[in-house]
Amino acid sequence: MTSLWMATDSAPEPYPALNQPATFDVAVLGGGIAGLTTALLCQRAGLYVGVIEAARVASGVTGNTTAKITALQEPVYAHVAEDYGPNAATAYATANIAAVDTIARLVDELGIECSFERQPAYTYATTSEGAEELVRELEAARAAGLDVVPTDETGLPFDVTSALRLDDQAQFHARRYCHGLARAIVKSGGEIFENVRATRVKSGDPCVVETDHSEIRARDVVVATHIPFMYRGLFFAKTRPSRSYALAARWDGASVAGMYLSADAPVRSVREHREDGRTWLIVGGESHKTGQSDDEEEHYEALRKWGAAHFGIERFEFEWSAQDLISPDALPLIGTATAMTPHVWVATGFRKWGMTNATAAAEMISTGIQGEEHPLIHVFSPRRHPLATLKRIGGEVVDTVARMAGDLAPSSETEKASPGEGVVERRGRDKVAVYVSEEGTTFELSAVCTHLGCTVAWNDAEHTWDCPCHGSRFAVDGTVIEGPATKPLERIEQERKGA
Ligand code: FES
Repeated sequence: MTSLWMATDSAPEPYPALNQPATFDVAVLGGGIAGLTTALLCQRAGLYVGVIEAARVASGVTGNTTAKITALQEPVYAHVAEDYGPNAATAYATANIAAVDTIARLVDELGIECSFERQPAYTYATTSEGAEELVRELEAARAAGLDVVPTDETGLPFDVTSALRLDDQAQFHARRYCHGLARAIVKSGGEIFENVRATRVKSGDPCVVETDHSEIRARDVVVATHIPFMYRGLFFAKTRPSRSYALAARWDGASVAGMYLSADAPVRSVREHREDGRTWLIVGGESHKTGQSDDEEEHYEALRKWGAAHFGIERFEFEWSAQDLISPDALPLIGTATAMTPHVWVATGFRKWGMTNATAAAEMISTGIQGEEHPLIHVFSPRRHPLATLKRIGGEVVDTVARMAGDLAPSSETEKASPGEGVVERRGRDKVAVYVSEEGTTFELSAVCTHLGCTVAWNDAEHTWDCPCHGSRFAVDGTVIEGPATKPLERIEQERKGA
């Protein structure tokens, strides 16, 4: 499965691997939009910055997004105001609007060719319940300072019961944008290393980052690896990994003239993307907790049917999925990881709005690294309202414990993998993740996730092993695709060829 962004932007020459110990003012772990923006802002402030990326720059969640840049999202302002008061909702709106402007400014200043376009954003409803929710959201978003207007006119080819519109938001090609940021980092004296996985961060003066290559020392470390992989701070328990899906088709129908998200379930996202004289229509939606869907392929099929029914699309050329991290209270987690680690910074839990929330995180963290307190960062602190957070993460902990208990229960699974499939086989007390390729090669791995020991599940759409507890994902040879795990699944035996 390849995203429109990965298919339409060839990767630049690889950045080098880290083959000797290095020292920086700031080490940024993660080469997505959060890490690269933080790195560039720090580098521009005169700091010497090194970025390390476990795979290739902009190939993770940033390369698999729908790339909407907007402060108008699914209903969020009413929830934040209810949980934390109107000032928190205002802070969220302010940070997101500032992020839209930061991206526009960087595109302009750096001359990044990334199909950046100003567009209105819409949240729409097709039911009376959704319309009622939008009434509450309108009031809360306006109180938070957003110039949101109610409307029942949209560019969608179907009726809505109501909609909210926020003008002057934007869309772009996120991967091209990130490659532009990466070029600017290197041009201004920073360094980028690819295919280097951080495995440990030791807080200190300086901090030390252990990797699967060489060691890095830095006064400040920014963990922008989507989910922070360290145990400290318990970020794996404070966020819920969620997978969602997107499809893109060539589009020569009437322009939808905006970016859309439904307030009703099932959530649907719509936008266009233009490049090289062609227009693509992107539709997205179908979220579920990672590793907890019986059939991932069904989610693609649901979107294909929806695209056919609402836009008459017969064939989608690109199909992809992404993993997002949802914090327990809708606000991202941005700041120092713990009170005891003042030079280890984290940015996570963007709740599917990574373009703006990651950029906002970069502004806040780079300000903090320069020794000033960003005026909004206390709202996003990972240590905010510990009792409320503890209550909310309780559900996730219960889910994880239930999974682990289920893993221990006796089972009489006898299912065998067919070519192109993976199954978890029980062999005595062991669970073995068995994948048989279309060519008949069998890969056998321990099915025990190397993070905290849950049993991985087969993802039939992406052909990966996904952990239902905290969202680690592994390739069929056991390689880590997404953390928090940093170690591969243990190989049981060498892959063998079928007869
Ligand atoms: Fe935590 Fe697998 S990701 S146990």
